[in-house]
Amino acid sequence: MTSALPALELSDVTKHFSGLVAVNGVTLSVATGERRAIIGPNGAGKTTLFKMISGEVGLTRGSIRLFGQDITRVPAGRRVKLGLGRTYQITNIFPRLTLEENVFLALQGQGARKFDMMGAHATELMRVRTREILARLNLSAEARRQAGEIGYGQQRQLELALALSVDPKVLLLDEPAAGLSSAERGVMADIVRSLPRELTVVLIEHDMDLALKLVDSVSVLHNGELIAEDTPADIQRNQIVQDIYLGALDGAHPAKPSPM
Ligand SMILES: Nc1ncnc2c1ncn2[C@@H]1O[C@H](COP(=O)(O)OP(=O)(O)O)[C@@H](O)[C@H]1O
Ligand SMILES: [Mg+2]
Repeated sequence: MTSALPALELSDVTKHFSGLVAVNGVTLSVATGERRAIIGPNGAGKTTLFKMISGEVGLTRGSIRLFGQDITRVPAGRRVKLGLGRTYQITNIFPRLTLEENVFLALQGQGARKFDMMGAHATELMRVRTREILARLNLSAEARRQAGEIGYGQQRQLELALALSVDPKVLLLDEPAAGLSSAERGVMADIVRSLPRELTVVLIEHDMDLALKLVDSVSVLHNGELIAEDTPADIQRNQIVQDIYLGALDGAHPAKPSPM
């Protein structure tokens, strides 16, 4: 399934917090099925950009389109119904419920309306779908465990499972590997790689090395502005990008994330 329309188009997207310009005039376009990383040192504006795309934070200026439709002022919940999925924070996981129950509840929630129409079969279909999602996320063996009892890395995988349960067309991931051990990062990288190819993925990531391995293209944010956009190979060779990451090493913000 391809579409001539870009999955996501940002035009002059800008956010001011009182005096501070967190994101400044960002214009970019992500094709359907593309894997895009948005990288940049701490404070670059990545999370703010993510929240504007998902609808948690309003724009000071600019516009956002999803498959051609202007969603700039569409509330976050409606964006989900239009196909924009995002990872939920771990705080959205119910720790006393099993993984299975968490995914099942997410399926029952908004975004999975199609199950409503299937009447008596809906429950069985949702059970099947729950198993599929947990399998995709490498969590089948943990399905009956309480979400609060699994490891941090697996909780991050469960976050992704919950995001996939609404069947998004565009999936936003905010630092999916933050705080993970290197083994857990490997698992997360494999999961991201194994996502269906037609799913458009926008990955906001601080760790350049990880991000470059997972995507087709990279946008680099620095001080709220888009300063480069290229293939992973060319971003790796880009001296300005290297300098920004190295420069961040010398400043107050470490370039490598410390575990949460
Ligand atoms: N709610 C807020 N109020 C005021 N300033 C904010 C808020 N959120 C983020 N900022 C500021 O905006 C800038 C960008 O932050 P953020 O988007 O979190 O960057 P990143 O995710 O790239 O580290 C930072 O200077 C940060 O302090
Ligand atoms: Mg951030």
